[in-house]
Amino acid sequence: MKIGILSAMQEEFDLLLSEVKNPRTTSLGMREYIEGTLYGKDVVLVFSQWGKTASASTTANLINVFKIDRLIFTGVAGGLDDNAKIGDIVIARRLFHHDVDASPFKRRYYVPLVGADGIATDEKLSDELACAAQDFVDNISSYISDEDRAEFSLSNVIVHRKNIATGDQFIKSSDVRNRIMEDLPDMYAVEMEGAAVAQVCWEHKIPFAVIRTISDTANEHSPMDYPKFLHRVASIYSLYIMKNYIEHL
Ligand code: ADE
Repeated sequence: MKIGILSAMQEEFDLLLSEVKNPRTTSLGMREYIEGTLYGKDVVLVFSQWGKTASASTTANLINVFKIDRLIFTGVAGGLDDNAKIGDIVIARRLFHHDVDASPFKRRYYVPLVGADGIATDEKLSDELACAAQDFVDNISSYISDEDRAEFSLSNVIVHRKNIATGDQFIKSSDVRNRIMEDLPDMYAVEMEGAAVAQVCWEHKIPFAVIRTISDTANEHSPMDYPKFLHRVASIYSLYIMKNYIEHL
């Protein structure tokens, strides 16, 4: 089994990369694909860059060139639902492109080949990741300092299994956030890659999951909250959740 791990954050990628044994690097299409073993399992690790096109092209290479059998996308997201707090984790059930609209010719959110109802993630893989994430949350004080837990209010962190909306936009205004929530109810978080990765995996029948840590709440505070959380907390989450996940395989 070969696991593709796609990361949209340089800090997260660097931390994971430092754990890879016998790394071999291949440069392709302006990305560096690192093959090796992570906690005893074969992996291909790649920093996708931001956005739908960048993550879709990277995913296609992971599948067709590096022959992965499953894919995990890890990164951060803006919380949409009021119950998605900074520091919570969302493991996607379905992913939707919130910026696709070819009406009146097609139903809003209709994506060629896929349809208008989003793309479902692999249930088993998502369940396994949810267990790994819950284990991390139960022991969070071993991983995140008291100071950071206090600053980011990480005392009651929740692992959600909910829908995620994707678009080529960093959401930083309440108006846009509210518009997405009104038009696409049941979305817990918003980010910039998940549905694109999901679409490519779905087209190639590769099981996939998307795990996101909430870094901001997709409003006027986001440009401040996002980088602070990213540097100090998010990459630590993903390293240890991935470690838990792989060690239990
Ligand atoms: N990823 C993290 N926060 C985000 C936001 N507010 N909008 C889009 N993608 C994000």
